[in-house]
Amino acid sequence: MHGNEFNPGGLSSQKGNNRRRRIFITIVVLLALIGAELLRSNMYIQVEEFEYMSKDIPKGFNDAKIVQISDYHNHGGSYDEKLLDKVSEQKPDYIFLTGDIADSVRTDIPAANAFLEKVSKIAPCYLVWGNHDFDIPSDDLKSMRECCKQNGITVLEDTYTTLERNGSKLMLCGTDTSPDSARWQHTFDTLLPNQKFVIWLHHYPEDFEEILNQSAAKSSKADLVFSGHAHGGLIRLPFIGGLYAPGQGFFPKYSAGRYNSGDSTMIVSRGVGNSGYTLRFLDSFHIAVCTLKCA
Ligand SMILES: [Fe+2]
Repeated sequence: MHGNEFNPGGLSSQKGNNRRRRIFITIVVLLALIGAELLRSNMYIQVEEFEYMSKDIPKGFNDAKIVQISDYHNHGGSYDEKLLDKVSEQKPDYIFLTGDIADSVRTDIPAANAFLEKVSKIAPCYLVWGNHDFDIPSDDLKSMRECCKQNGITVLEDTYTTLERNGSKLMLCGTDTSPDSARWQHTFDTLLPNQKFVIWLHHYPEDFEEILNQSAAKSSKADLVFSGHAHGGLIRLPFIGGLYAPGQGFFPKYSAGRYNSGDSTMIVSRGVGNSGYTLRFLDSFHIAVCTLKCA
């Protein structure tokens, strides 16, 4: 029997329908918001500006602008144009590439090499490899090394170079292995001592303190470190930060942005690509731009 004005059962049935409709609409809205955020996080590139001020920065490097690109993971496609436009807009003096140019799960070396070639046209590039670059077949890494050589990209494989600007010089170090490796130790053993200002490129942010300790032992303490690898923690929780990073586990100490330790600073990029089939949430792609300022 159907309900009517004399039948309260009809009213409760209508209330039930309204409740179900509200729940349905809430679920649809939530799914739409989650979908929109997934699209934003996995397509949008945030440019974040940093300023690093120190009395130790050689005068000729005042106002030098560094663009850091990390964890490209051979993204490729039309995305490259958007990414490279954002980098060009910054008019960088230097571009630092901090590892994982290739992706070892969805390896696409032509895409990685095409990106290297294009980015090298914007400004002088300096590169360290990441774990994915070492996990691809050795011939593929060889091809990327060759591409860097042909396009004038300086690859810092556990070594250092000198940057010169307006008559000033500073030391730029690049390490690509973990602290227990002999190559890592070799870098510190051969590090030029007593350097006034040192910039360090290293894929793994969890090695920050180790880099500071080892470089300080040679009186060439790293002043400014650029790192990546953590992909922002993949999911960024409000007030908490990244959820998970390889090498650091859940709630990583270093996942994105600026970290200070004594007089030294590390900038961690959230990266511009995804590893394998992972997706980001509340964690868009990220280019770090750092301007040096003499105090
Ligand atoms: Fe990565």
